Amino acid sequence: MTVPIAIIGAGIAGLSAARTLYDAGYPIELFDKSHGSGGRMSSKRTDAGALDLGAQYFTARDRRFVKEVQRWQGEGWVAEWNPQLYNFQNGQLSLSPDEQTRWVGTPRMSSITRGLLGRLQAHFSCRITEVFRGEQHWHLQDAEGFTHGPFSQVIIATPAPQATALLAAAPKLAGAAAGVQMEPTWAIALAFDTALETPMEGCFVQDSPLDWLARNRSKPARDSQLDTWVLHATSAWSKQYLDLPKEAVIEQLHGAFAELLHDSMPAPVFTLAHRWLYARPAGSREWGALADADLGLYVCGDWCLSGRVEGAWLSGQEASRRLMEHLG
Ligand code: FAD
Ligand code: NAI
Repeated sequence: MTVPIAIIGAGIAGLSAARTLYDAGYPIELFDKSHGSGGRMSSKRTDAGALDLGAQYFTARDRRFVKEVQRWQGEGWVAEWNPQLYNFQNGQLSLSPDEQTRWVGTPRMSSITRGLLGRLQAHFSCRITEVFRGEQHWHLQDAEGFTHGPFSQVIIATPAPQATALLAAAPKLAGAAAGVQMEPTWAIALAFDTALETPMEGCFVQDSPLDWLARNRSKPARDSQLDTWVLHATSAWSKQYLDLPKEAVIEQLHGAFAELLHDSMPAPVFTLAHRWLYARPAGSREWGALADADLGLYVCGDWCLSGRVEGAWLSGQEASRRLMEHLG
């Protein structure tokens, strides 16, 4: 029997690689520390319906990704979102329409990674703490003390700091990953039982603790009785208030939202806060993926390219391409 390939991380980068390898006939096994797939593209099921707390929408500029998104559209996993867009700057809120096509997962962001996962073999709630090589093959140690393997090759598809910790066997790759800083984002969700009196459905924000606002319910195929909003703080604010209790984060960002709308806002009937510790890489790179093909170790993720969904997917493609090229 062929020895499988291990993929650590079932976000869009890991699943991009996994699908390509599986479709080319390679056996693969996925590992993720979360209870499901999606990573930063996951959605949270809540009393106010499913909410996209991480990636809000994505754009497709590279021709290969455009083609893939068309395929997802054919599967019913994505649809275009055409929000009434605003911009907030110098204390002024103004309409800010554009021609950009923006995609969202339907009926929630996590539908895309769920679709890609399909029936691929995956271990969830399984945090890998070590990647080590035996005489011939790779093995993975998890946080519970179990060893998984053997594997012929390993793809690490996690944020850079988590990849660094798994790259002891490849100091050069570890060094490159260690040089990538990733910045946090505080995300909160608010739900109101009476719709807020604004036509706004998305807003880019400057000069505020907030960076972005989205009316979650305005995305296609969302089914919520409540007027649900997702608010993201800037990296700078999130860094400064990294350890603030969730209630205080909600209060502050709710306050910033009310200020922006120049409105005494009603009390939300539902609130939630989520801290993304490794939300976005500082800067972008053109690495595609990192690889030590002789060792059989590959690394991918948004931080190898653009820090966006498209970059993450392309990075997974690059890792799988290089792996298959090496295996011939
Ligand atoms: P991830 O999605 O982070 O996947 C990595 C996976 O690895 C995770 O599932 C994690 O659980 C798992 N993992 C980590 N360590 C281990 C371990 N030791 N063992 C096992 N599993 C492990 N992009 C856009 O294009 N548009 C947007 O509007 C947008 N908004 C964003 C808003 C926020 C708040 C955030 C956080 C991100 C946003 N992004 C956006 C970025 C986008 O979400 C990411 O670029 C993309 O999802 C990254 O995918 P990935 O597969 O590289 O990493
Ligand atoms: P995009 O083209 O919609 O946006 C890129 C940037 O251009 C925006 O951040 C905004 O500053 C500006 N912009 C675009 N349209 C605008 C408009 N109509 N009015 C005013 N400003 C506008 O999408 P792209 O390039 O795919 O970027 C993805 C988005 O994901 C960005 O907004 C980025 O900030 C966000 N992101 C957020 C992360 C987080 O942790 N909060 C992590 C990674 C990405």
